[in-house]
Amino acid sequence: MDLKQLNPEIIDVQPSALRQFDHQISQYPGIVKLTLGEPDFNVPEHIKQAAIQSINDNQSHYTYYWGIQELRDAASTYYREKFGYNYSADQILCTVGATEGLAATFKTLFNPGDGVIIPGPAYPIYKTLANVNGLTPIMVDTSDSGFVLTSEQVETAIAAHPDVTVRGVVITDPCNPTGVVYTEDQLKALVPTLKDRELWIISDEIYGELTYGVKHYSLSTWLPDQTIIINGLSKSHAMTGWRIGFAFGPTGVIDEIAKAHQFQVTTPTSIVQYAAVEALTHGQDDAAQMRAIYQKRCAYLKQE
Ligand SMILES: Cc1ncc(COP(=O)(O)O)c(C=O)c1O
Repeated sequence: MDLKQLNPEIIDVQPSALRQFDHQISQYPGIVKLTLGEPDFNVPEHIKQAAIQSINDNQSHYTYYWGIQELRDAASTYYREKFGYNYSADQILCTVGATEGLAATFKTLFNPGDGVIIPGPAYPIYKTLANVNGLTPIMVDTSDSGFVLTSEQVETAIAAHPDVTVRGVVITDPCNPTGVVYTEDQLKALVPTLKDRELWIISDEIYGELTYGVKHYSLSTWLPDQTIIINGLSKSHAMTGWRIGFAFGPTGVIDEIAKAHQFQVTTPTSIVQYAAVEALTHGQDDAAQMRAIYQKRCAYLKQE
């Protein structure tokens, strides 16, 4: 068979160099890995027990493709209390990690050729998702503005691509890899441009609970009709391997994203969904305990 006949948008993608490197070095015992955004903590005991209970309760069936009602209700309450998100359960989709939420969102929001602004340096998957969906990734260097995207940079990027219909912008806040957390004023300063330009915002807030002495704000507060929030339990509850995340969005568009999700993965694993209910109903302080230890390590590294 001629592999050159396969989908060029996939053939052209390089597997993540970071993940390959991580795989290569993971064989060495005792090393401190600074490769992936991977908490070295175990999943909190109460969440593990909930997963075991759900197995014993034979929660082994397909769930509704949006995720179980209890989980969407729990996510609605948890994120409202944590960050002021304003989404009812029917505006919340349970996804296979943030990654699958991002994939379903990129697939749904844009048409081939559309431009998506990606502030850099960026988590690499956004560019890959743009490429595999036939979009035009527009990388914007933010090193001159403290790694914070500004309205001027958005306008300049649009002006520099007169042949491209720019329809989206990615905001990673808090940001991997830069560590930047947008202030309320920095987010508000973006609002008029994003609104006037009618851009979709994909707001990746997976690190929302890992801020140190500053508050996490969500752009969805000011642009609820244009924002899809991506979040999940990988970082806040050290559940990277369990693969559970959420997409939050306004009615209408989130229903379309749910369709893209359904045909690709059907639904997240049933057992993990029940464990995630426990994380969101009794694990409000789980991240705080990890954060305190991260902060100590950070101080040690910086010799504070
Ligand atoms: C910015 C960012 N978004 C998304 C993800 C993926 O999260 P998940 O494990 O929930 O798919 C990561 C993982 O490192 C990340 O750093």
